[in-house]
Amino acid sequence: MKRLLNFDRGIRAVADLLMLNVSFLLSDIIIKAFFPPVGFQWNQFFYKLPEHIYGMILVNIIALIVFHMNGFYTRSRAYQSRYKALVIVQAVCVCYLIFGFANYLVDSNFISPAVLILSWVLSIGFLVSARLWSLIWRKVILNEVGQQNRAIQVVNDKEVLVIGGAGYIGSALLPLLLEEGYSVRILDAFIYGDSAIKPYLTHPKVKIYRADFRQIDKIVEAVKGVNSVIHLGALVGDPACALDENLTIEINLMATRMIAEVCKGFGVRNFIFASTCSVYGASDDVLDERSKLNPVSLYARSKIACEKILLELASDKFSPVILRFSTIFGFSGRTRFDLVVNLLTAKAYIDQEITVINGDQWRPFLHVEDAARSVVAALKAPRELVHAQVYNVGNNNLNYTLLQMGELVAHLVPNAKLILSESDQDRRNYRVDCSKIQRDLKYFTKWTLEDGIRQMIKAFAENKLQDYKSAEYSNVKSLMERGAKDQLSAQSILNFQDLLIVEA
Ligand SMILES: NC(=O)c1ccc[n+]([C@@H]2O[C@H](COP(=O)([O-])OP(=O)(O)OC[C@H]3O[C@@H](n4cnc5c(N)ncnc54)[C@H](O)[C@@H]3O)[C@@H](O)[C@H]2O)c1
Repeated sequence: MKRLLNFDRGIRAVADLLMLNVSFLLSDIIIKAFFPPVGFQWNQFFYKLPEHIYGMILVNIIALIVFHMNGFYTRSRAYQSRYKALVIVQAVCVCYLIFGFANYLVDSNFISPAVLILSWVLSIGFLVSARLWSLIWRKVILNEVGQQNRAIQVVNDKEVLVIGGAGYIGSALLPLLLEEGYSVRILDAFIYGDSAIKPYLTHPKVKIYRADFRQIDKIVEAVKGVNSVIHLGALVGDPACALDENLTIEINLMATRMIAEVCKGFGVRNFIFASTCSVYGASDDVLDERSKLNPVSLYARSKIACEKILLELASDKFSPVILRFSTIFGFSGRTRFDLVVNLLTAKAYIDQEITVINGDQWRPFLHVEDAARSVVAALKAPRELVHAQVYNVGNNNLNYTLLQMGELVAHLVPNAKLILSESDQDRRNYRVDCSKIQRDLKYFTKWTLEDGIRQMIKAFAENKLQDYKSAEYSNVKSLMERGAKDQLSAQSILNFQDLLIVEA
């Protein structure tokens, strides 16, 4: 697909240059035909053509640079029609301004102003009409073909499978998907219970698959007929993943590979994968998607391995999208108190005292509802735009040191005492740059950290949240105290002993 996209971009660039050159030549011919210079003869025109080549080369180089900088061959397909036309007009104007200036500096008689102006108008006309024609072609012709194909495949674009959809993020995502008109299949083992999505269990547009996602037959059953899969399921968080390394690798990594392969085999086009900014681990820089990864936990390493596998599986028919979520805060169907902002807010509100450990460490934060919105944005984006792309999900303004965050909590909860301490247990320290998702998907967060903390305080005040220390709010506690880990281990697909039992 990558090669195909590059080829497609190459073709578009060549077509643009062709239109530009034709505009020049045509303008030159028209001006000479209607306003011939004194003593002009057509044989001179053809004789002097090779001299034009240098000018043409210069125009082509300037055009390619300007067009590329305006996103002609990267993001412009995502632009809406009027805005797209505006971008084209602007890019062509810049291009001609530069060329006109260069022409004036080199030799003002080289190309006459009349030719330059006419060529400028023609270029805009050609480039805009070409895009318009391509739009009509895609809408009318390809729609017809698409309808025929859909009839054959019986794939429903408005039906989506969410794996691990009963968790913290999943329970915030489900109502958004329903609002957007999707029918939603949820495959989850309900390790932490089903109360997170209880109001939706009997919803007519929700179908529940109560299963462990390591079971291939269940995945096949759930995947059939859907075009898009969102994979949120995992053992989540450093402490939960450290409990049993083999189990973590099996659930987070091996199962993800199997799920992605099944999806690819069954014609799923969009595969959105929940990764984490923890992959950056410890770094003093502001990190974007191309920055070096420096994981400091098994959880982060398992996510990096998944990302790699998914990107390798990308093809013209299978488009994985990686969303690296910042550390999440806020209220959802399954609020977690094993996450730093929620935990400190609960401690401040209930115990009137919070301890900030390693206050100088940076973290990017993201409200759970904004995390869910980013999934919807990726789902609705044109496939070619997000194909095999990695996005940091968050906001550049939501990078805080733990001390700054703790001070904000202490400020918002009256009488809460702030204590500082040091530990070398958690070495994570990272700030992220989220410009790419803003630029490509026009995705902007809605929640500030302050609003999220206020939301949690309100939820406590209204008794929507009970004992924050209870196992139901913590992954690691649920796995340990509620026997969830033993249950998961018992269902291990790596337990080959079962295969050796032969019935007499
Ligand atoms: N919450 C965060 O701060 C955060 C940050 C970055 C990335 N993420 C990623 O986002 C995704 C969702 O996170 P979350 O906070 O909603 O997690 P969560 O623990 O609340 O939810 C995970 C869901 O997966 C299900 N699940 C786990 N193992 C399963 C199995 N073997 N079979 C079937 N279901 C299984 C659980 O029952 C649960 O409903 C995860 O992949 C996580 O790594 C979360």
